[in-house]
Amino acid sequence: MSKLWGGRFTKGTNKLVEEYTASIGFDKALAEEDVQGSLAHVTMLGKCGILPQDDVETIKAGLNKVLEKVRAGEVVFSVADEDIHMNIEKQLIEEIGPVGGKLHTGRSRNDQVATDMHLYLRGRVVELVSLLHELQEALIVQAKDNLDTIIPGYTHLQRAQPILFAHHLLAYVSMFRRDAERLSDSYKRINVLPLGAGALAGTTFPIDRHFVAEQLGFDSVYENSLDAVSDRDFIVEFLANAALIMTHLSRLSEELVLWSSTEFSFVELDDAFCTGSSIMPQKKNPDVPELVRGKTGRVYGNLIGLLTVLKSLPLAYNKDMQEDKEGMFDTVATLTGALQLYAPMISTMKVNKGRMREAVNTDFSNATDIADFLVGKGLPFRQAHEVIGKTVLYCINEGKFLLDLTLEEFKQFSPLFDENIYAVLQPEAVVNARNVYGGTATVQVEAAIERAEVALLEANKWVTSHVGAVL
Ligand code: ARG
Repeated sequence: MSKLWGGRFTKGTNKLVEEYTASIGFDKALAEEDVQGSLAHVTMLGKCGILPQDDVETIKAGLNKVLEKVRAGEVVFSVADEDIHMNIEKQLIEEIGPVGGKLHTGRSRNDQVATDMHLYLRGRVVELVSLLHELQEALIVQAKDNLDTIIPGYTHLQRAQPILFAHHLLAYVSMFRRDAERLSDSYKRINVLPLGAGALAGTTFPIDRHFVAEQLGFDSVYENSLDAVSDRDFIVEFLANAALIMTHLSRLSEELVLWSSTEFSFVELDDAFCTGSSIMPQKKNPDVPELVRGKTGRVYGNLIGLLTVLKSLPLAYNKDMQEDKEGMFDTVATLTGALQLYAPMISTMKVNKGRMREAVNTDFSNATDIADFLVGKGLPFRQAHEVIGKTVLYCINEGKFLLDLTLEEFKQFSPLFDENIYAVLQPEAVVNARNVYGGTATVQVEAAIERAEVALLEANKWVTSHVGAVL
């Protein structure tokens, strides 16, 4: 059989052109979606009296047979048939004969491909939200195990103020919660049906777009046929959301790489999540966080790539838009891979509480609290800051920490010091003094964990009610 669109042509396609323009190499990933879309379309053609019911039944049986063969890996896709849509149509016609040629009535590949992409992406979004929830869960469990673990908190990567390790982990829970919310919010813009837009202007057949939408579980139908076939905003939005998730993962990755270095030794990643060196026998490398950090680049690239493809494109469909797929597939695979690894990597991570404590005991991260102590005695904060700056400088010169100073030494800097300062400077006291909503005090962090668990439970209901979207 020659090309499905061969009638107008007097020559075969140049082989290189065939290869250059084909998308089957990657859009074969849409086989499932393509068949589901076709099943709904042909059912509607029957219901609207556009095709006789026995043709509809023959086509449906044929499509199911083709899908079975695709799933079993029995279909050899051909570059000569360009893309998944024509490959499947070709298979259908081979399966059931010329009646298969009736399937494309009232439809174009332009609204067909858009429909496939919507079906594909909504399923992936549900899966990714679920993976983000698993990661939040893993972080919350670690946070609960580390409610008594104090680490130096950093700004400028310089020790700033001591915080609960749980508090630090919960910051990531907040980020991943926003990420999951963004993805589930985008769902309503993904779950819109383009089919029925035809090539660009609609169709002459008396179709029922809402019936197709209902069958495929779409919440709504595109309002404008030109927009329906030209819109790739939903993919851009997905790629932007993915880029931000990778940003968050790369920040956590950087911390894990730092924390697992000998210099920090705050955590140890499980052997199952690390690799060794072919030359240096002592090495245990944090390859997973490193690669997640590295792969962030390609996810950003895919976003910029698609924005650039779409920039200045005239309405409606243009072949340029075929370039929307590889970046999207790559982003889905990259993000899914990272999230699948991250939750178990966090769960199995060993936290070196002793080493963290040692770090907190040998720094000046309690300095703000002495300043606050003097403020409590009536000294203006600016003056207190100056006094403590001098005290810290004295300590550095003497090779001491603040808690090593005698009361006499303290008094050299201000007569307002008294013996209560020693209790104020204990790391636990410093942490628990920050008893403000969202702060690091133990009671606040306990409350934050509770809120995070409630939010997660609620968000999981969204996933449960949307699993049907995964084909
Ligand atoms: N393979 C094409 C794509 O991915 C399908 C739509 C082709 N439409 C057309 N008129 N050539 O965009």
